[in-house]
Amino acid sequence: MKYQTQKVAYPYFILATLLFGLQVIFGLITGAKYAWNVDPLMHILPFNVSREIHINLLVVWLLFGFMGGTYYMIPEESDTELYSPTLAYVQFWLFAIIGVTAIVGYLLGWSWGMPFTEQPFIIKVGIVIVALMFLYNILMTVLKNKKWTTIEGVLVAGLTALAVMFLFGMFFMKNLSTQYFFWWWVIHLWVEGAWELIAAALMAFVMMKLTNVDRTVVEKWLYIEVGLVLFTGITGTGHHYYWIGTPAYWLWFGAIFSAFEPLPILFMVFDTLRMAREKHLQITNRLAMYWAVGGTIMHFFGAGVWGFAQTLPQINKWTHGTQITAAHGHFAFFGAYVMLILTLVYFMMPQIKGLKNYNQTKGFVTFYTTVFFMLMMVLALTAAGIVQVYFQRILGFDYLTAQSYMHLWYGVFFVSGLCFVSGVFLYIYDFFTLKEARSAIN
Ligand code: HEM
Ligand code: HEM
Ligand SMILES: [Fe+2]
Repeated sequence: MKYQTQKVAYPYFILATLLFGLQVIFGLITGAKYAWNVDPLMHILPFNVSREIHINLLVVWLLFGFMGGTYYMIPEESDTELYSPTLAYVQFWLFAIIGVTAIVGYLLGWSWGMPFTEQPFIIKVGIVIVALMFLYNILMTVLKNKKWTTIEGVLVAGLTALAVMFLFGMFFMKNLSTQYFFWWWVIHLWVEGAWELIAAALMAFVMMKLTNVDRTVVEKWLYIEVGLVLFTGITGTGHHYYWIGTPAYWLWFGAIFSAFEPLPILFMVFDTLRMAREKHLQITNRLAMYWAVGGTIMHFFGAGVWGFAQTLPQINKWTHGTQITAAHGHFAFFGAYVMLILTLVYFMMPQIKGLKNYNQTKGFVTFYTTVFFMLMMVLALTAAGIVQVYFQRILGFDYLTAQSYMHLWYGVFFVSGLCFVSGVFLYIYDFFTLKEARSAIN
């Protein structure tokens, strides 16, 4: 760690880690409702509530992770201390309080109802204030030194886009088609636009530090990737406009442009592998490198392949809103963003804690457990989805009859989820007990 204020990242990573644990517990509760026909929690914690808590916690802890990573990175990139650590701590507590209020609100039925943007209006206003505090602090830090690195530029562009796009999900519209039209500006333009920029910048920073390659090697590709992500991501929004009451031209528009979306992700894989091979120095933090390279590959399959597989209208008319969608949702979020935050944590935490050669054993067990069982969860959901498409969409069985044929796969999903969660708990334990390795060899 070069600057004292990079430590601000610490509480952000702590909360991200704890909420990750809570998120997957709610995943299990939600999954159990699929796996069993009886639901003792039906009137206390129904499916819709446990699901909304599961996916909201996901977004919230990922945001805490992005913020922590940014607070760690920006002082080092800007060669100066953070503009205001106090503001960063105030922002941390404000966001934490807002998050807890939202979750307790969901338990009491205080919800707006659109997936991922269920937060009631007043909570959304709070989130905007938090975002402004965060952006202000970051911008003032960068401007202190008047020099922008490419990595910083991409990161700040992504964070600004993240905040701006959120505004389109704030207001209630009478017409459901209009509402969904703009809802995708938040959901799609987040994960396939703004967040991709943030991920590319943070990943570029970590790879540069891990491998010690020259900055120009990292930055050269960043321009191409970012340009392509923006072009395919923005035009690709069309793949959500097939069946929501929008004009018919979206069918070919969405099909053509979203088909290119895997391209920039594929570039990222090549780029990361290329950097990983440029060993200027002996890499001591092998674990962070595993998360980084593993993450880009999982990102490609989860978003690029599983997303592409259902992006053409000819296919999407059968698979839309089935468990095939959920399989892609789990795979893409995990590969692209969960594994990115874990890369950041395993790269930054040892430095924040002042460890030279930390013990990586538990981290590797976590890596293999979570990656393997996430793949099992995704395959189980995909299989369930194929059964669902066949019985419900092709044979025309009603929803619940089709569900009864999917039971076996829900069982596989739940058991894989249980094993996945054990990996997450090992991670949480590892996070809080990271310490120096006894020997230099890990
Ligand atoms: C990291 C990037 C990505 C993430 C996190 C992600 C996540 C998601 C999620 C959560 C949904 C479900 C939304 C809902 O209906 O509630 C979804 C839907 C969808 N995604 Fe992605 N996605 C990513 C990238 C992609 C890419 C690159 C493609 C295409 C090449 C794609 C194609 C689709 C399509 C077509 C749907 C709609 C599925 C349906 O009709 O039910 N996604 N995505
Ligand atoms: C880091 C790990 C996880 C991530 C990133 C994740 C992400 C998601 C996302 C994005 C959705 C919304 C899907 C959509 O709208 O199509 C979702 C729903 C869901 N998740 Fe997870 N999840 C994780 C872990 C788990 C675990 C361990 C379980 C337990 C088995 C689980 C069970 C569920 C269930 C049952 C749903 C509802 C699916 C539906 O609406 O039909 N998740 N999760
Ligand atoms: Fe999308």
